[in-house]
Amino acid sequence: MLYRRLMGTDLEVSALGLGTWAMGGLWWGDGVDDATATAAVRAALDGGITLFDTAPLYGHGRADELLAKALGPDRERIVLASKVGVRFGGDATAGTDHAASDLDPAFVRADLEASLQRLGTDRIDLLQVHWPCESGTPLEDTLGELVALQEEGKVRHFGLCNYDVEGVRRAADAASIAALQTPLSLLRREGERTLLPACEALGVGVIAYEPLCRGLLTGRFGSSAPNFPDSDLRSRDPRFQGPRFARAAAFVADLGRAAERLGVPTAALALAWTARRPGVVAALFGARRPTHVQEDLVAARLLERLGDRGWRATDAIADTWSG
Ligand SMILES: NC(=O)c1ccc[n+]([C@@H]2O[C@H](COP(=O)([O-])OP(=O)(O)OC[C@H]3O[C@@H](n4cnc5c(N)ncnc54)[C@H](OP(=O)(O)O)[C@@H]3O)[C@@H](O)[C@H]2O)c1
Repeated sequence: MLYRRLMGTDLEVSALGLGTWAMGGLWWGDGVDDATATAAVRAALDGGITLFDTAPLYGHGRADELLAKALGPDRERIVLASKVGVRFGGDATAGTDHAASDLDPAFVRADLEASLQRLGTDRIDLLQVHWPCESGTPLEDTLGELVALQEEGKVRHFGLCNYDVEGVRRAADAASIAALQTPLSLLRREGERTLLPACEALGVGVIAYEPLCRGLLTGRFGSSAPNFPDSDLRSRDPRFQGPRFARAAAFVADLGRAAERLGVPTAALALAWTARRPGVVAALFGARRPTHVQEDLVAARLLERLGDRGWRATDAIADTWSG
């Protein structure tokens, strides 16, 4: 496993990180049981992963609880990343629940305190604003509260998710932003043009999420568009439908042939490609089964051993994707 430092911080993280969104269950269809999710976390630890990302949103706290239990005392040797600033409304059992950002300082503090309780820890190593404000709180007020929480030792470093170049610049003017979480994969490359270079110039490390395009880049769907249950957000994701899916499936088939030549799973090649983009500190993948984690972990071997020729061939395939 490669380890990289988040610029301007004392945090060293594995170049591959495990995310717990799907593990939380909510919005990801048929969930997995606690034992399977625990085994997935343990497989990640065994493979050298030291970056784990969670959020109050993931399963309304279930992901936090699962992660804390699965890590046990190993929590002390990993970098625990979480998020703040999303408030739930509606009723989850009636399927009318919805989430909206609330970055009011009082809510940020309460949200963090609840996370610390669920995670059974006294601090979050990297606390990220989950998405930009929808309720009018000035960014500077939110950042002021994060600085206060940092001074109290409840947060080691803080960052952002889903901000654009303008938002990251404004935040970096007001406070020390350790990282930005943003989507990046072989099928979603728009961030490479301006966002990643801007982050690099500002000294903000990029943590790339959704590197497997919610499973599409693993090749597991072949050429037939999958049928997800209504409870799975992928049932409404246009990337899994019609001609857009067919185009992606053809691309993934090419990638799969390249992976086969290298003797690695398609998922591992996709994941490693994202983790080595300039400016990316870590690629954060979701997996809730130990078998998937083990397959995805082969990416670490590629990061360490694949030579220029192998990467040139992969980049040539990558550049055939036009969206
Ligand atoms: N900050 C944000 O706003 C934000 C947004 C999105 C994600 N994230 C973070 O990034 C993490 C990763 O993103 P993501 O989970 O949305 O997308 P992802 O990593 O692109 O895809 C995850 C899904 O891919 C499938 N998968 C993984 N490995 C596989 C394998 N070897 N074979 C077959 N299928 C495999 C699994 O689907 P099944 O579970 O169906 O098997 C898994 O749930 C999240 O967990 C979260 O921590 C953050």
